[in-house]
Amino acid sequence: MSLIKSQIEISKIRDAGKAVHNIIHSTGAMIRPGITTGELEDYAAVLFGKFGATSPCLGYSPGGHPPFPAWTCICVNNEIVHAIPGRRLIKEGDIVTVDVALELNGYVADSAWTFPVGKVSPLAERLLKVTRDALYRGISQAKAGQKVADIGYAIQRHAETNGFSVVRELVGHGVGRTMHEEPQVANFGQRGKGPALKSGMTFTIEPMINAGRKEIECLDDGWTIVTEDGSLSAHFEHTVAIVPGGAMILTNGD
Ligand code: MF3
Ligand code: CO
Repeated sequence: MSLIKSQIEISKIRDAGKAVHNIIHSTGAMIRPGITTGELEDYAAVLFGKFGATSPCLGYSPGGHPPFPAWTCICVNNEIVHAIPGRRLIKEGDIVTVDVALELNGYVADSAWTFPVGKVSPLAERLLKVTRDALYRGISQAKAGQKVADIGYAIQRHAETNGFSVVRELVGHGVGRTMHEEPQVANFGQRGKGPALKSGMTFTIEPMINAGRKEIECLDDGWTIVTEDGSLSAHFEHTVAIVPGGAMILTNGD
């Protein structure tokens, strides 16, 4: 069962979401050729400190995984999610995803954004636009009376119509009192299926869209998820709340 949050709780998740937005876009502004993902992580970690926030990712170890060793996930090109920041050097033409989950005053918000580095290929540019638009198409389906899979249907349709593929194994999720709650919010599905959306639900919508095939692989570090065919992948994520009239985005900085 999905947790239903009060208006006060939603405003606390939104406070966490404002910090998430600031960290993602401040860190995004640091991205340039020659910087490493580890340096971006260090920059982001300082910002967590300034907000008095903690990272639910740091030390996170769900069944069988080694504890996640960083505050953020920073993915480059074919990396889809959960890449561990480190010595990887960013270069002109890369696409870089900054994924930040953050806990502030007991409430959690989660968002991700993929940034182009300098001039990127036309394919990369189109992948970023289609994935970002897919996120907003998903969000427009998120309102009381709709079903969870209406969101995934809209995302899948937009991605596939544009010749891209949708990752199946990784999904959006309830978020707020903890990082991962019910329901699961897949980026694919059939209209009218899944749990009903109700006022007070808070969850992420987070299309992970591949330029090539949908299949994924996990690297030996136990965390980094990459595209099996080596193709580019983009990821745009917001935390939203279902409120009267539709979805309120809690991680867009206002
Ligand atoms: N935003 C990511 C998610 O919801 C954060 C994961 S933290 C990690 O899956 F430790 F799993 F990387
Ligand atoms: Co997430």
